[in-house]
Amino acid sequence: MSTQKPATILITGATGNIGKELIRLLSAKGIPYKAMVRSIEHAKELEELPGITLVQGNFDDEGSLDTALSGIEKAFLLTNSSEQAETQQIRFVEAAKKAGVRHIVKLSQWAADASSPVRFLRYHAAVEAAIKASGMTYTFLRPNLFMQGLSGFKEVIQSEHKFFASAGEARISLIDIRDIAAVAAIALTTNGHENKVYNLTGPESLTHQQLAEIFSGVLAHPITFINVSEEDMKSALLGVGFPEWQADGLLEDYAHYRLNEAAEVTDAVQAVTGEKARTFSQFVTDYAALFK
Ligand SMILES: NC(=O)c1ccc[n+]([C@@H]2O[C@H](COP(=O)([O-])OP(=O)(O)OC[C@H]3O[C@@H](n4cnc5c(N)ncnc54)[C@H](OP(=O)(O)O)[C@@H]3O)[C@@H](O)[C@H]2O)c1
Repeated sequence: MSTQKPATILITGATGNIGKELIRLLSAKGIPYKAMVRSIEHAKELEELPGITLVQGNFDDEGSLDTALSGIEKAFLLTNSSEQAETQQIRFVEAAKKAGVRHIVKLSQWAADASSPVRFLRYHAAVEAAIKASGMTYTFLRPNLFMQGLSGFKEVIQSEHKFFASAGEARISLIDIRDIAAVAAIALTTNGHENKVYNLTGPESLTHQQLAEIFSGVLAHPITFINVSEEDMKSALLGVGFPEWQADGLLEDYAHYRLNEAAEVTDAVQAVTGEKARTFSQFVTDYAALFK
């Protein structure tokens, strides 16, 4: 019979960008945890990670959330961005409260605000409010734009040496998702993060022109940033399959960036992890194979 203490941490979004980094960190720290996945069959390769237990759960199925949350003390809440995200996350919060979860670490977004013109910032604020109202303790992680989001341009950067957005001269303190995962891992496994809001940024605030210059320097050939109109950005997003709700939300995000509302740099990553937040140059160096 195993004498190992059962895992009391549940990670959602474990197969996604941040979730994958987070579960690797927990495994490396030797911490037992459960990872909620829609299909255990499709996530089989994660079972090789030390300390992981896969549990089936779907944000659209309340019963599966009740089962996944049974015996859990701390949960990491992340869904992809979609028109359903607010309903899905609030369903999870209600199930967590019912299951006796003590603490939720929620992946939110920089400048989450119920009265924002940006739909993503409104839905994150609504979920934050539901968590606060539940009486569970919380840590809200509010990261700025993800550096890894630039990997959406990998083909066009490889083949045409350019990328585009409706960013103008906006300065953005974008962040590497590995730093977000590092903060989440600490908030889930140590005390002192109860009822805290962490505004997470990288160490510098950069225009898209400066991103292009860093790409050019690290990849050792010129990469050009092309500023496009909102109309052109929307048709490009729809063209690669984004649902209209999501495309419009991204345009709202970029309008908010152009007002320099996402330009501030914080030291929260270093304050929580003890490590400096990664620079954009470090990101491009580490992911160079994607862009070459
Ligand atoms: N992109 C940015 O610059 C930015 C900035 C700040 C905040 N954010 C926030 O970051 C979040 C996205 O993070 P991410 O990029 O790590 O996400 P992601 O890679 O899109 O991962 C989404 C995860 O959610 C899981 N999932 C989706 N639908 C589910 C369902 N019905 N039931 C259970 N699991 C489900 C997915 O599982 P499957 O593998 O089964 O699909 C996947 O593991 C969003 O909330 C967004 O608002 C983004």
